[in-house]
Amino acid sequence: MSQRDAVRAPGAWPVLGHAPALMRRPLEFLRSLPARGPLVQVRLGPLPAYVVTTPDLARQVLVTGSQDFERGRFSRKLTRTLGSGLATSTGQDHRTQRRMLQPAFGRTAVAACAAPMRAAAEALMADWTPGRVIDVNQAMDAYAADVVARSLFGSEVAAPAAAEFRQSLPGLLRDMVNRTLLPEWWAALPTPGNRRATRALARVDAAAHAAITGYRAANRDAGDLLSLLIAARDDDGTALTDTQIRDQMITFTLAGVETTSAALAWFFHELAHHPDIERRVLAEIDTVLDGRPPTPDDLPALTETTHALLESTRLYASWIQMRRAIRPVVLADTALPAGTEVIYSPYLLHHDPRWFPNPETFDPDRWNPDRAGAIPNGAYLAFSSGVHKCIGESFAFLETTTLAVLACQRWRLRPTPGAPVRPIATGVVHPKGLMMTLTPR
Ligand code: HEM
Repeated sequence: MSQRDAVRAPGAWPVLGHAPALMRRPLEFLRSLPARGPLVQVRLGPLPAYVVTTPDLARQVLVTGSQDFERGRFSRKLTRTLGSGLATSTGQDHRTQRRMLQPAFGRTAVAACAAPMRAAAEALMADWTPGRVIDVNQAMDAYAADVVARSLFGSEVAAPAAAEFRQSLPGLLRDMVNRTLLPEWWAALPTPGNRRATRALARVDAAAHAAITGYRAANRDAGDLLSLLIAARDDDGTALTDTQIRDQMITFTLAGVETTSAALAWFFHELAHHPDIERRVLAEIDTVLDGRPPTPDDLPALTETTHALLESTRLYASWIQMRRAIRPVVLADTALPAGTEVIYSPYLLHHDPRWFPNPETFDPDRWNPDRAGAIPNGAYLAFSSGVHKCIGESFAFLETTTLAVLACQRWRLRPTPGAPVRPIATGVVHPKGLMMTLTPR
């Protein structure tokens, strides 16, 4: 088969290609692609891109053939906001950054974040009162942003930057997704959205630089990621520039907030709609912890809770990630030239009944060892795989489990009748309109 023979997704618009479908109804559009074949061509504006729809092909792109790929168009667009941090750099630059940052996400460092995570959970729940209705997505965003601020940029000096990031980054994320899907010239138009994004970026930059200057002036180790970045030296002893540190601060805030917040919000939503599973989760938390707060060592015993969280990350995963071929490659018998953009979608793979029977069903038991073995390698990619696998995976699991447990020990979050919940795809798929009523246990 030649490149010309690759299956094309129907419904491309003139000029805009499949951008309207990907912007308006991305989840439905993605779910329709596996039926067309293992590799499906879509158009982002005039640019062709190839969606891999099987675990084998996803693994080829991410793991076994990863030397043939670099990051794709999405992350090139992200550099406008993120600069060249861990989530946007590629090749040797990425390897150097990953080596430098890995200690901050190792077992000991993550365990040390348990206390700030508990503090953030207590702060979130401090004003929860019986009968109060909360917007769960907003509440989880606030928690996740607070955790990143306390754990990674813990000193008071960084507090204004953390507040500015919390305010501006969600809008910038939406802007970045749109820039990826729309033609290049769109971003140069003086639309209100583009002007808003430029102003937000200037505020974020100023706040980050003020925090870095403050940390340098204080000249002490606050034991957080920002201190590690300031102290870091590369192999020839050179320190990171302020801009490189700013890039990492923004990277970690963006990569670590919406993702975790969505997993938690969906967890509470799904528990409320599956009373049998909720009962098992609550019973486990009561038995294992007997009312005390969780520690990292408790995680292995909290299988019902962690499987429910894992299942939330499966059902509502990131919907679009990209790579770009740096040399000619063959994917599913299709020869693709260097420069070809390839899309993998954890959401698409996670909703395919071939890999996850009854994929729309919230079924934490599918992660029990007797069933999990049947899930093909490369089918579950909520945290990706290979060289760009999420560096924050164990941080995220401790963070989500901490709040899930502390909240479940005291509260049940009940659905509010008449409030429709809609999955909205921004970076990940988060619940819009998830209003829940707080009921004491
Ligand atoms: C439930 C929570 C999370 C999910 C589902 C998630 C998902 C992902 C995914 C899918 C990728 C790979 C993107 C790609 O293919 O290019 C990724 C990378 C990354 N994540 Fe996460 N993430 C989560 C939490 C976090 C947290 C808490 C942090 C940090 C505090 C974080 C930091 C990062 C970074 C820096 C990268 C880039 C890694 C690299 O390229 O070396 N993530 N994440």
